[in-house]
Amino acid sequence: MSIVFHEKNRTFHLFNDKISYIMAVLPNGQMGQLYFGKRIHQREDYSYLLEMMARPMGSYVFENDRTLSLEHVKQEYGVYGSTDYRCPAVEILQENGSRISDFCYKSHTVSGGKPKLKGLPATYTESDSEAETLTLVLEDKVTGIELELLYTLFAGSGIIARSARFLNCGKKPVHLLKAMSLCMDLPDHDYDWIQFSGAWARERYPKKRRLETGIQSVGSMRGHSSHEHNPFVILKRPTADEFQGEVIGFSLIYSGNFLAQAEVDTHDTTRVLLGINPEWFDWKLEPGEEFQTPEAVMVYTDRGMNDMSQTFHRLFQKRLARGYWRDRERPILINNWEATYFDFTEERIVEIAKKAKEQGIELFVLDDGWFGKRTSERAGLGDWKANPERLPEGITGLAQKIEALGMKFGLWFEPEMVNKDSDLYREHPDWILSVPERRQSQGRYQYVLDFSRKEVVDYIYDRMAEILGSGKVSYVKWDMNRSITECWSAALPADRQGEVFHRYILGVYDLYDRLNTAFPEVLFESCASGGGRFDPGLLYYAPQGWASDDTDAAERLKIQYGTSYCYPISSIGAHVSASPNHQIMRSTPLYTRANVACFGTFGYELDLNRLTAEEQEEVKRQITFMKKYRSVLQFGSFYRLESPFEGNVTAWMSVSGDRKTAVVGWYRTLNGINMGYTRVKLRGLEPDSVYRVSEDGALRGEYYGDELMNVGLVTSDADSGELLPGMRPSCDFDSRIFVLEK
Ligand code: DGJ
Repeated sequence: MSIVFHEKNRTFHLFNDKISYIMAVLPNGQMGQLYFGKRIHQREDYSYLLEMMARPMGSYVFENDRTLSLEHVKQEYGVYGSTDYRCPAVEILQENGSRISDFCYKSHTVSGGKPKLKGLPATYTESDSEAETLTLVLEDKVTGIELELLYTLFAGSGIIARSARFLNCGKKPVHLLKAMSLCMDLPDHDYDWIQFSGAWARERYPKKRRLETGIQSVGSMRGHSSHEHNPFVILKRPTADEFQGEVIGFSLIYSGNFLAQAEVDTHDTTRVLLGINPEWFDWKLEPGEEFQTPEAVMVYTDRGMNDMSQTFHRLFQKRLARGYWRDRERPILINNWEATYFDFTEERIVEIAKKAKEQGIELFVLDDGWFGKRTSERAGLGDWKANPERLPEGITGLAQKIEALGMKFGLWFEPEMVNKDSDLYREHPDWILSVPERRQSQGRYQYVLDFSRKEVVDYIYDRMAEILGSGKVSYVKWDMNRSITECWSAALPADRQGEVFHRYILGVYDLYDRLNTAFPEVLFESCASGGGRFDPGLLYYAPQGWASDDTDAAERLKIQYGTSYCYPISSIGAHVSASPNHQIMRSTPLYTRANVACFGTFGYELDLNRLTAEEQEEVKRQITFMKKYRSVLQFGSFYRLESPFEGNVTAWMSVSGDRKTAVVGWYRTLNGINMGYTRVKLRGLEPDSVYRVSEDGALRGEYYGDELMNVGLVTSDADSGELLPGMRPSCDFDSRIFVLEK
């Protein structure tokens, strides 16, 4: 791994054994992008990549010179208005009304490791040898603003992390109207664009289209990254698939309003922009102040989308997630939400917990409804004190009872919200985001606390710390159940209202950070009506997230499959719930619900007392299985084998780091009759090693890795022919788990 600067041609080459990233100072002093892709030879001069030519109707930077038009060169951080007509990376409103800036190379430094980003989640290194960081210092002489562009190249992988920092070293205030984390100009547009979109209960479905001239974008303006779109997009060559071909993944480590965009110009180049959504963004920068953008991560590979996903998984699992739980197998939990909703007493909770303990469950999570007047969604949010009618001995009393059963205790919070029917709102009506004299829109009868204000965050911290301080709460589910409206803060002046969305998220990060620091062994799980804020920003504080409120196994296949393109299995909260399912009313076998959920941070979301004795035995077996294999399932290398978006069968697998153990999940949506023979080609095994393949504990056979990967695992079943004695009958929503041991 190296970052080389050629003084003579003012060219930077960042390279490791996988990738090269090359840029150079342009004749006008701004930074030009020359190449990003597979590693190429190191040479002094790459100026042939700087294609400049006169074109009809062009605008040019220099008098009497028709070579340099910013519209026609690839740049590192494009600016609009001085010969570039594409969407820019930056827009700065100055006192005289101008928005033109001209950031020119001033200096640079190269250092080992990676600096922290103040107040923001970001990837990190544990030693200086893991990565190198180039800091390019650019300057706009007229405003005096310095712009630091950070590039971190990680050793041995196709990862580059980028961010931008603005320092107002001038004498006048300015307004940052757009400050993207990443601007990437690619020399052609021969790509498929894949975004991850959906809605509540069907989050992160991959949607693919061919890049075309014009703009393709996704984003959020809801105040959270959203169910609708995820801050992650892929550009892949049309011929690339899961296991071969060029792919670039772009991920933004941020939980608020974002924009991911690709603009193809008339000369077929592509500009990718990723960062805070510029809509409603207006950050005032006084002299001496600075602004740090969130971090964006790019992953390049020529080995297909699965390799890209595994690269993101490793990075996010090991160098984004942090703390006590980062590398630990996650506890098997039971959550009472779908078992009771708001209707419970302490007695009922203990009854559910007792049965859960009998089955081997390790953690009991008390969901919504335990505090204030919270017996429905209309009241109580903000009053973080146990409801004595429901929990006579408070949270500590209940937690003690749960612990006495031999389980850990976890608790639900929705820290950012308040109901009007609450003591908190009655005391501080001005603490919600709302615009004076305007209607206050509600969502789920609740309002959003102004987390851009420190005193609000301090107050909520104190309330949560009081409860966590008892030492009895081992897990927190942090929920967030509405999008932001009337985004206006009573604490900020008129010319800073464009900062509120971002300041709000900084407040959320601050609260998470303080709680992480004070309670380092508490496991946090993020949630926003399921997957409304399932993004890398929160992974920094909460190593797992509730992936969706949809707990139906067939729906979950799609959600978890889509989520796996960017996010590690150890981050995907997945539970077994009742049948018929509460969201979609579908009945699926208990084993399929578990076979889907076990590729995630596994748990249950039902009252086990309501299952038959036979089903309870099955649950016991599922838990024993999960305890034995969760390290492979959650931390192994994950391979997508067959997509639920393409056919009736889904298959995926996880392989342990030493490639000695693998677990394969196979799922078929609808049953058929007298069906064809089927096989699934496995991945990631040692070709020359023999694996014992078992299903439900019974040995199926022994095969070489190369057989399993090239011939495939035979999955034809009873319905491919006649159901003979001893054969397992199949059904709709069927599934099978195969365990491979070397
Ligand atoms: C939405 C969450 O996604 C659910 O799991 C549950 O916690 C409810 N909120 C509680 O109000």
